[in-house]
Amino acid sequence: MSMLNVDNIQKSFGKNEVLKNISFSLEKGEVLAIIGSSGSGKTTLLRCLNFLERPQKGKITVNGEVLFDGDTYSKQKESEIRKKRLHFGMVFQSFNLFPQYKVIENIVLAPQLQAKEQLKSTGEYMGVKTYKEAQQKIMENALVLLEKVGLSEKKDAYPCNLSGGQQQRVAIARALALNPDILCFDEPTSALDPELTGEVLNVIKGLKTSDSTMIVVTHEIEFARDVADKIIFMADGVIAEEGTPQQVINNPQNPRTKAFLSRFKQNFS
Ligand SMILES: Nc1ncnc2c1ncn2[C@@H]1O[C@H](COP(=O)(O)OP(=O)(O)OP(=O)(O)O)[C@@H](O)[C@H]1O
Ligand SMILES: [Mg+2]
Repeated sequence: MSMLNVDNIQKSFGKNEVLKNISFSLEKGEVLAIIGSSGSGKTTLLRCLNFLERPQKGKITVNGEVLFDGDTYSKQKESEIRKKRLHFGMVFQSFNLFPQYKVIENIVLAPQLQAKEQLKSTGEYMGVKTYKEAQQKIMENALVLLEKVGLSEKKDAYPCNLSGGQQQRVAIARALALNPDILCFDEPTSALDPELTGEVLNVIKGLKTSDSTMIVVTHEIEFARDVADKIIFMADGVIAEEGTPQQVINNPQNPRTKAFLSRFKQNFS
């Protein structure tokens, strides 16, 4: 069974059909890179997975659990949606850290809220029964994550005192803190100066070795080829081509993929 199944997702904004029957699947531990020109629907697709947008049609299944089914959809409570959203972690182009909180607070905030909610409803959170114990677990985990993204020494800094690359690495740690099944990145390096891009891409590469399942929307073609198990090339709301990096980037078949890749300076063949 695949970890993620996306079946025939269709999304329109008014008359503009932005996603036209998108289907793909992802196995546990796999990295999917989504490439494609501006306006092809990449961000909209990630937003549909994260319940930030609601598709008109289609089905989204994670680990066999149907999270969304356009045929049977009825309005859901915000708490239900929040729970479903937890399957996906999201890292945006623009970091979106809370400026008034220290790095460590940015990371522990959401898990602490989750712990409170879960303790109230089930009496247990990650094997402990009191909020104090939960807080301790959350803090320990946050410190491990900060180490993982190479920012242990910045734990008490405020976001405004960090470089863009550091802020983005905190955003990655923050997304991981909720232990999502699938971590999604929407152009995680496109707001960064070129010299800061590498440090963020290296952290993402590092996550691959620790078996995280990831979807990365990126314009970094070289990186996509390096890190992805599977590449999807989107054009005008459809998957124009998909396959291994070897297939899609080194040996594209679709003329649109060829035209898109030819815009990049390097020759990938
Ligand atoms: N909230 C919205 N309301 C109306 N139209 C939208 C909305 N969000 C996106 N669109 C439209 O959907 C289409 C796809 O946009 P999307 O942001 O998904 O593209 P993208 O592939 O992520 O592009 P980019 O590479 O520039 O980020 C565009 O035509 C865009 O104008
Ligand atoms: Mg986008």
